[in-house]
Amino acid sequence: MQDDVIAVTGSFVDDRDTFRVEEFHRPPLKRHHKKNSEIGISVAFLSDIHVGSKTFLEAQWMKMVEWFHNDPLAKTIKYLVLSGDVVDGVGIYPNQDKELAIKDFYKQYSKFAELLELLPEWVECILLPGNHDVVRPAEPQPALDPEIQSDFNSTTFVGNPCSFKLHGVDILSYHGKSIDDFVSMPEVSYAHPVEAMKEMLRRRHLAPTWGKKTPLSPEPEDNLIIGKIPDIFVTGHVHGHNCSDFKGTTLVCSSTWQDQTSYQRMLGFQPQPCILTVINLKTHASASIPFA
Ligand SMILES: [Fe+2]
Ligand SMILES: [Fe+2]
Repeated sequence: MQDDVIAVTGSFVDDRDTFRVEEFHRPPLKRHHKKNSEIGISVAFLSDIHVGSKTFLEAQWMKMVEWFHNDPLAKTIKYLVLSGDVVDGVGIYPNQDKELAIKDFYKQYSKFAELLELLPEWVECILLPGNHDVVRPAEPQPALDPEIQSDFNSTTFVGNPCSFKLHGVDILSYHGKSIDDFVSMPEVSYAHPVEAMKEMLRRRHLAPTWGKKTPLSPEPEDNLIIGKIPDIFVTGHVHGHNCSDFKGTTLVCSSTWQDQTSYQRMLGFQPQPCILTVINLKTHASASIPFA
């Protein structure tokens, strides 16, 4: 990756103007020991709901709402983390208006607030923005505007990325725009975005490349550094789904609620929509519940 920070070992040659590199190094990534909550409550993950798009899967959302009210596992879900692109936005790409069922972004957020209201009252939402949301595209992105926030009840609005603790468990949530840059690596593809997440952890950085597809804001302090290895690391953006372990950290590629778009059809990309990832904070057992 361009702009990677690496260490090297080797030796100076003769005139000391030349350094012969023998090995490249990154900070060693030791096996991580997860922390557990004392009570057996769960956190669920979704992203990329894309409300306002004609391809938003409303019938499947209603199926999930019913599940939330009736399933024993749903009774344990105290938090729902929404990792960005909760609405489709307006003017995000050329001719987007032809694919929009709701053409006003305020109305898109109001509709999403109504959809969240259908979930049981014991579920608290944590919402961060993505590249389709109405905040600046440059990362780190701030939380949604207070005017938009006022539509929502029981939702905590945070920036992108965001690290937070739920009952002692460290969670790092990032929308995942930089996966568009990580796919230049041979190991990473849109079909295997979890490989990009592993590369982020190896580099301790969410978006190491400057000036490519990920817009970055030059801040006095680099807020995209992964200072502390999280217990759960979650992204979205690529509309895939995965939940796996990497050196003791649970990696979650959270699923979308949008069907295949015409752009994805053109690229031959098949999304994996409507899968709710649920992780128990005491046992770290995970479940992926399909609603498609
Ligand atoms: Fe998205
Ligand atoms: Fe996105």
